[in-house]
Amino acid sequence: MTSDLLIRQAEIFLPDGDILLGDVRIRQGKIAEIGTDLEVGEERIIDAQGLTLLPGVIDPQVHFREPGLEYKEDLFTASCACVMGGVTSFLEMPNTRPLTTTQEALDDKLYRASQKSLVNYGFFMGATADNLDDLRDANPSCGIKIFMGSSHGALLVSTEEQIEPIFAKGSRLIAVHAEDQARIVERKKEFHGITNPAIHSTIQDETAALNATKLALKLSNKYQRRLHILHLSTGIEAEYLREHKPSWVSTEVTPQHLLLNTDAYETIGTFAQMNPPLRSPENNDILWKALMDGVIDCIATDHAPHTLEEKAKEYPNSPSGMPGVETSLPLMLTEHKKGRCTLAHVVKWMCSAPAKLYNIPNKGAIALDYDADIILVDLKNHRPVLRENLKTKCGWSPFEGWNLTGFPVYTIVGGQVAMEKGIINTEVRGKPLSFDA
Ligand code: DOR
Repeated sequence: MTSDLLIRQAEIFLPDGDILLGDVRIRQGKIAEIGTDLEVGEERIIDAQGLTLLPGVIDPQVHFREPGLEYKEDLFTASCACVMGGVTSFLEMPNTRPLTTTQEALDDKLYRASQKSLVNYGFFMGATADNLDDLRDANPSCGIKIFMGSSHGALLVSTEEQIEPIFAKGSRLIAVHAEDQARIVERKKEFHGITNPAIHSTIQDETAALNATKLALKLSNKYQRRLHILHLSTGIEAEYLREHKPSWVSTEVTPQHLLLNTDAYETIGTFAQMNPPLRSPENNDILWKALMDGVIDCIATDHAPHTLEEKAKEYPNSPSGMPGVETSLPLMLTEHKKGRCTLAHVVKWMCSAPAKLYNIPNKGAIALDYDADIILVDLKNHRPVLRENLKTKCGWSPFEGWNLTGFPVYTIVGGQVAMEKGIINTEVRGKPLSFDA
């Protein structure tokens, strides 16, 4: 279903950061030509006047709930949300049901995605205390996810004794959810009975995050093992990494940890609850600085949908997590429009850096022979995030009412127009990603 395209008169973001007012030709799902006044052939023409042409976003941490938790989200609804937000590739986490801890479960997810996902997909395998061989032999290549905290059942691998063998054996990238489970358990007892959701940030405090990040770094150093620290949430971790991060370690931050903080409990209550929790406002600034300075490498959403009914429960019965793929790019482009960062920063953090960190070939840039994962965004207009426009099955966003610039007008996946002016082509399918090869 790939048709050839000629995108004309776009403001094209080139890999060196220059903007070219010109045309992009797409043939067989690849970027075949970039230039000005390209000859018009037989292909479909998209008039992109006034729009900015960027590489599609690669979101390296999402929870899409299929299989097993489809009442919250599934690969079709999540990927529809992706195309609305300009996300053309995702890496998904193993806390589905069954857990993605075996080759069989990984194959099942890959098959489901081939049938249902409008965008490109890759899946992490979850570490347990006893699946070292599965982690080593998984095929095709994938990342390994360790929940050091904030999980339960087999996916919780929280003690040094359990974690060390995973670092010691094999060579694949390890991504960690870094929270100190033992500390969280103790503090849950201490603050038991409090139903104000703001206590969540006190229970799963900054020290819990720092302890786990330090342990992961220690083991990564000991075994020289490639480590990615997921959703960095605190200034103290960022400052620690500034001093101690070796070249083979990377990290990410979510838009919500940059742009929301503990004040959000007053306005949206349990809808602000996530793991690791939102922090005090000072942390927003330190994380932002660490991102600007390159201490933090990229942005991920940690898209973790729960239903309205679940989120409306009283704390601590309310689940942690919030959706993000529909809003991440417009949120960051809005920060760019406010002058907080350049367009080059946004493209690096959301497109080229995830491709580089996870060794995803031919993605993350507008360059010849790269995959035609392309978005056309409108940087001139703005509109509010409205619940009724959202495609995520959970049907809400912590950013409702925020007036954002830079929503995609077109999302193109491997040369297929997956979204055009808000209308989704549900026939489009993505491809499996090769990552951490
Ligand atoms: O708040 C969260 N919810 N953080 C995570 O990392 C996972 C998650 C979920 O799956 O609901």
